Amino acid sequence: KKVVLAYSGGLDTSVILKWLQVTYNCEVVTFTADLGQGEELEPARAKAKLMGLPDQNIYIDDLREEFVRDFVFPMMRANARYEGDYLLGTSIARPLISKRLIEIAHETGADAVAHGATGKGNDQVRFELSAYALDPSIKVIAPWREWDLTSRTALIAWAEQHQIPVPKDKRGESPFSTDANLLHTSSEGKVLENPWDETPDYVYSRTVNPEDAPDAPEYITIDFEKGDGVALNGVAMSPATLLTQLNELGRKHGIGRLDLVENRFVGMKSRGMYETPGGEIYARAHRGIEQITLDRGAAHLKDELMPKYAELIYNGFWFAPEREMLQAAIDHSQARVNGTVRLKLYKGMASVVGRKSPDSLYSERHVTFEDDAGAYDQKDAAGFIKLNALRLRLLAQRDAR
Ligand code: ARG
Ligand code: SIN
Repeated sequence: KKVVLAYSGGLDTSVILKWLQVTYNCEVVTFTADLGQGEELEPARAKAKLMGLPDQNIYIDDLREEFVRDFVFPMMRANARYEGDYLLGTSIARPLISKRLIEIAHETGADAVAHGATGKGNDQVRFELSAYALDPSIKVIAPWREWDLTSRTALIAWAEQHQIPVPKDKRGESPFSTDANLLHTSSEGKVLENPWDETPDYVYSRTVNPEDAPDAPEYITIDFEKGDGVALNGVAMSPATLLTQLNELGRKHGIGRLDLVENRFVGMKSRGMYETPGGEIYARAHRGIEQITLDRGAAHLKDELMPKYAELIYNGFWFAPEREMLQAAIDHSQARVNGTVRLKLYKGMASVVGRKSPDSLYSERHVTFEDDAGAYDQKDAAGFIKLNALRLRLLAQRDAR
């Protein structure tokens, strides 16, 4: 029996790797994805080797371009934010990791996949719904739901018993659970568990405190084609490069911090801290270009569909037909979402300050308060208002009777 483990090289998944060997006595294949989490991946290889894995059982893939091009950008076309705020940085990475896990299982003839998500969270659902959608007969092993290591302390003791090195910061006051990729870093647990207490500064890892950000604003432009960002300050670049550079700008200006209590799919509320520097800038810019290129009817319908779409991604239904249906509608709306947005970055804020497009629907001639040379007949508005008022007047007349 063979199992492919989603392996970060960190303490938890190292314990899981060992535990799979000891408990199931099975051959383990590790998969470590570079999603732009900003960590060296070679240490993960070295650790896997140390636990007896041969080279051909260690997979390390750079998925950054695929992640941004095929997952982050399509999601951004929808302006997706879960419960009004969360840009879904962890949620959107899980289906891609599962897709690769299943591919590797097929390549190596493995019959199972394993992950390090706990039985309390969303990630287990996302990993497994995606895995089953792509391979209905795959077996899933979720050690956190099986083993008797019921506390952090028990896990660390088990690691030491089995000669797995425990990094010092795992004992301190760092958040219990963090997850990072090109889109965001999330932190949950420990000092964050009391939702009344403000997040201490040391929890933030990829943005400066807005209070310490530069006193001078910085102006940038982003070019869009069919709803996707294609250039920064006039320089064309790939999706992952664009997001990487926006992350640098967001870091410097303290953009994209979020302290949120959210509803997990399994039913409980959890408090998390997010940093989405480039994503926050990008999301604002995308809305900016839609302002002048989308028709009102299309724009408002998109906004109605968005909470449903965001919830599907949050709950792990990326590979479900209803997500694909919504995606088709959203993508269709983006055909003329072309042009340039100018933004001002300043002390935690990314503000749209200018937009232009060859496909603009904005008509200065119609909207001007100066002489419009007959573009618009103000008399037309009288009948428009009169008929819209008809039912309101009938109601008011009845209520006066
Ligand atoms: N609460 C967020 C979500 O459900 C973040 C989860 C973070 N995952 C983690 N393994 N730390 O998308
Ligand atoms: C976890 O439970 O592994 C992390 C949090 C989540 O998935 O919601």
